Amino acid sequence: MHCACGGTARACICKTIERHMYPSVKNADVAGRRVLCRVDMDVPVRDGAVVSSPRLQAMLEMVSFLQERRARVILMGHRGRPNGPDAALSTKPVCAWLAGRLPKGMVRFLPFDDYGVLVEEVHAMANGDVLVLENLRFHPAEEQNDSVFAKQLADLAQLYVNDAFATSHRAHASMVGVPMLMGGYIGLHMERELEALQVVREASRRPFVVIIGGAKISSKLEAMEAFLQSADRVFVGGAIATTFFAAQGLNVGASFMMKEEVTDAKRMIESDRLQLPTDVVLKSRHGYRTASPGDLRDNEEIVDIGVSSVRAIQDAVQKADMFVWNGPVGVVEDARSRAGTDAVAHIVARRSRTKAFGVVGGGDTLDVIETLGIADLYDFVSTGGGAMLKYVGGGVLPALEALKKNT
Ligand code: 3PG
Repeated sequence: MHCACGGTARACICKTIERHMYPSVKNADVAGRRVLCRVDMDVPVRDGAVVSSPRLQAMLEMVSFLQERRARVILMGHRGRPNGPDAALSTKPVCAWLAGRLPKGMVRFLPFDDYGVLVEEVHAMANGDVLVLENLRFHPAEEQNDSVFAKQLADLAQLYVNDAFATSHRAHASMVGVPMLMGGYIGLHMERELEALQVVREASRRPFVVIIGGAKISSKLEAMEAFLQSADRVFVGGAIATTFFAAQGLNVGASFMMKEEVTDAKRMIESDRLQLPTDVVLKSRHGYRTASPGDLRDNEEIVDIGVSSVRAIQDAVQKADMFVWNGPVGVVEDARSRAGTDAVAHIVARRSRTKAFGVVGGGDTLDVIETLGIADLYDFVSTGGGAMLKYVGGGVLPALEALKKNT
């Protein structure tokens, strides 16, 4: 059973949250107005259809809220990291998912090719209508936070709502440029994220254990530095661990890693709070085997953590009073290298059912727990990966700063 704060009845966080300082959409007068709403659409698509995700559930809740209040909703977001238009990364499947869950005929998809047409369409909207814009990142101007592009977006609507927590660490046009021009509100999900993550940000409960994996290393290193100060133990897995092995001078064979981040990793391996895997699963054309991190042949790649490393995480999480997990610790796309990640998902879920408080998050992590069907077992599931880590690590989120500055 979940409490209104987003925590379970066993680990309710209501008493510890500090109110955030951003205007909430709950206080906005949206009736009859065009509302430009930035949401998280960055979800996987398989066989042409989106895979169910907490990000989509959050979007549905936000749109329903605005519709019930007779707003005219213009939804915008991104998928992936395209270099120009790319049909595989269109937001069309997201629109189709939404259309299947809202009253017929209310949701429509709109490309962004002809701005004049777009303006005509938004002016023809009726109360309760929803327009879904094509992937904003098809335009380089989005990631450049281009002022002309931001103004074009802002001119489409009378109000702006940001409910895209997972992207709030990006200073892009739809996240920062638009609210700098027209102010705005935080959405329902953004508000819940800020309240729940505040507990972790304050690192108020101990022992505090962090598990970080995944491949998007650059957006996580800054948070890791912060965790090495605030947490009692920081476990790493996935491609991040490989980068640390390289920093230790170990042979990483054919493993995926980020060469540019090795210098930062070298600084961090000095910390006695950092815990690297003690055994790893290796893949080569001859098959799979488990070995010590240093014991790698040139044709082998690290694809998962081994049983001893999982046990070390289990021991630490069982004793933790607060924990954060972000990112798979192995290659989850392959059934033979996802055992470590699945084990971590279950260990963390079991601990969430006690008095400890835990947060899990990140696009790939959400995909893992959805696939395992255990998303309901966690205290709080954050839709953010890099954003979540940045925020709980004490960092500043540009999208929130923009709202603070221009409210
Ligand atoms: C995410 O999946 O974490 C968000 O969509 C942000 O994506 P990005 O790292 O490509 O900016």
